[in-house]
Amino acid sequence: MTSTPATASLPQPALRGRDFLSSLDLSPEELRAVLDTAHSMKRGEWRGTKPLAGLTLALIFEKASLRTRTTFDVGMYQLGGHAITLTNAEIGLGTRERVNDVARNLERWVDGVMGRVYEQTTLIELARHSAIPVINGLSDALHPVQLLADYQTIEESFPDTRGVKVAFLGDGNNLANSHIEMARLTGTRLVVCTPVGHEPNGRVLMEALRAGADVTLTHDVAEALDGAQVLYTDVWVSMGQEAEAERKKKVFYDAGMQVTPAMLDRIAEDGIFLHCLPAHYGEEVVPEATEHPKSRVFDQAENRLHAQKALLYHVLGGTEPRW
Ligand code: CP
Ligand code: NVA
Repeated sequence: MTSTPATASLPQPALRGRDFLSSLDLSPEELRAVLDTAHSMKRGEWRGTKPLAGLTLALIFEKASLRTRTTFDVGMYQLGGHAITLTNAEIGLGTRERVNDVARNLERWVDGVMGRVYEQTTLIELARHSAIPVINGLSDALHPVQLLADYQTIEESFPDTRGVKVAFLGDGNNLANSHIEMARLTGTRLVVCTPVGHEPNGRVLMEALRAGADVTLTHDVAEALDGAQVLYTDVWVSMGQEAEAERKKKVFYDAGMQVTPAMLDRIAEDGIFLHCLPAHYGEEVVPEATEHPKSRVFDQAENRLHAQKALLYHVLGGTEPRW
């Protein structure tokens, strides 16, 4: 039987009032606090607690979502708070209304904002013009909340992630950039394998290397797979890139980037396969790979809920309801 902690025994919120626009907004110790909380929430140890009672989070979507929308909404509910979803068709960020005016309105009513946007600068502007925390729910540049769930999932197989070989196979996109930031924070050994011309963001990479991160770029799939303990892929055509779809699909397929069961047989014996989803089956992955015994993709999807609840607790916990 799991015990239910009294609210008094909950950990101190580690990120009170802070923005989370990039993984690097956390120190390694703060990341540890969030992941420890995520694991304990998954074990059911927070059942019955309502630490965000009376608080509201606004969810802004310029792009589609299943996991991010559902898990932030359910997460706020389970923590005793409330979420309100604002699609861009309704609010017209930067078109119907200036981003900084949207920020200065929302901060008068809600306690935090989660934004899924095209430009990272939209999030930076929302954060700059409001006193409430802003959380990045994916931009063209980064997807840091996804990586919290990913590392929770990796820790379920490899409790000490230092030195664990993570192979990211596919496009040098928002997920690849966030993987680089997390390798820098955690000490994993990251190999990013892309076709020529599709490498991740050069500045993110250079800053990580300068900070001592163990990150290698390659175009050689065999090098990436060799001894990989985590094989990770994501779509080849991200939201907003639809015009490039046909060209990219051919380039990536010809470069041998499609994840198959045969590929999963080649990674470490205790290795795991992750995909942030949605999967574009027949492109970056075949259905048999997500069904493979090494696949953890649906645990990973479940962990979006636990990891984001943990983040919300550490960012919003202790905030006085304003009414
Ligand atoms: N992985 C992820 O962010 O999923 P959604 O696009 O469905 O939110
Ligand atoms: N790289 C993908 C991730 C989706 C969760 C995209 O941006 O569309």
